[in-house]
Amino acid sequence: MEIKLEDLKVLFSKEQIENKVHETAQILNDFYKGEEVIAVCALKGAVVFAVDLVRHLNMPLKMEFIRLSSYGSSTQSSGKVNAVDIKLPDLNGKNVLIIEDIVDTGLTAKFLIDFINMNFHVKSLKFCSFLDKKVARKVDVHPDYYCFEVDDKFVVGYGLDYDGNFRNLPFIGYKK
Ligand code: IMP
Ligand code: MG
Repeated sequence: MEIKLEDLKVLFSKEQIENKVHETAQILNDFYKGEEVIAVCALKGAVVFAVDLVRHLNMPLKMEFIRLSSYGSSTQSSGKVNAVDIKLPDLNGKNVLIIEDIVDTGLTAKFLIDFINMNFHVKSLKFCSFLDKKVARKVDVHPDYYCFEVDDKFVVGYGLDYDGNFRNLPFIGYKK
């Protein structure tokens, strides 16, 4: 498959995204009620969402970044998750909020949740994904918070890539 910018159809516009991210942040602000949060952003895809989201969060917050990879080919999950760089500070007793770009098969989400629960006794662990591709799920894991649901199409933009491209698009698009 090849994807060109001119082949992309907008699924969620910049304005829709801004509104939804703001709304999601309000829900998180209500949930945490001013308690400190450690936001763990999964690179590279979630970085665009994370930097937009955290600017609407009003509690004391620290950001951590980890890097995982699961994609075998450009558009198909390989079925296994590689921990490329997963150095984290002591998360014992902390409110941990994982920030992801998309939950697809759910393997990455499950890996991350299990990894944190195996290594730390956190105060709370929540998973916030920009997109939820529910129909593609292979393991029983669901984001606690998400902005939009997508059906089983490959999407790009707002951090999500095809072969490293399109992360900078301010909208979510798919190939027509
Ligand atoms: P999972 O482990 O199958 O849930 O895949 C999660 C990761 O696959 C995401 O963090 C993305 O990096 C990537 N991914 C899954 N679906 C898409 C898509 O439609 N577009 C771009 N990347 C995707
Ligand atoms: Mg990702």
